[in-house]
Amino acid sequence: MKNIVLIGFMGTGKTSTGRLLAGRLNRPFIDIDKKIEQETGLSISDIFQLYGEDHFRQLEREVISRVARYTNTVIATGGGVVLKQENMIRLKNTGIIVSLTASLETILERTSRRGVRPLLDCEDRAERVAKLFHDRANLYMKADYTLDTTCMPPHQVTEKIIALLREGGHLRGRS
Ligand code: S3P
Repeated sequence: MKNIVLIGFMGTGKTSTGRLLAGRLNRPFIDIDKKIEQETGLSISDIFQLYGEDHFRQLEREVISRVARYTNTVIATGGGVVLKQENMIRLKNTGIIVSLTASLETILERTSRRGVRPLLDCEDRAERVAKLFHDRANLYMKADYTLDTTCMPPHQVTEKIIALLREGGHLRGRS
């Protein structure tokens, strides 16, 4: 079976939903950021601080190129994975892409913890979120399915994704 790949802006629930979805479908779960952290022994924030964003994007690209060869796996990506077209081509080749969205207010609230998302560690977070969100909006739309998670907890998002995938004939059995 194809992978199920969650894309979307920071704070749209990719990691928590991905974990639940993998459990529900009895599939392995990979979180790209976690994998980068495990392989480098550094947090995402440390990688940005020590080596810069370009270096992080290279690591991300390299991990995606390996993980995209998996099958039957639920993959949660980092919000910036859409910035490189080659990442998306690879992930699309072997997976169904599900894009999670949320309102700007929800994103701001869900990403309010500092020191976790280096791109949002700045004085005017609201302005930064709005700009990044606007710049990337078209990229997140290049998905097979899109789901607004604004008022939904991850378990509900998970059930919606399963319903969409089943309707589309992408799931076998009764999950
Ligand atoms: C990023 C999102 C983060 C992480 C890194 C860059 C982005 O992942 O990959 O801080 O460019 O949107 P989450 O979307 O899981 O927060």
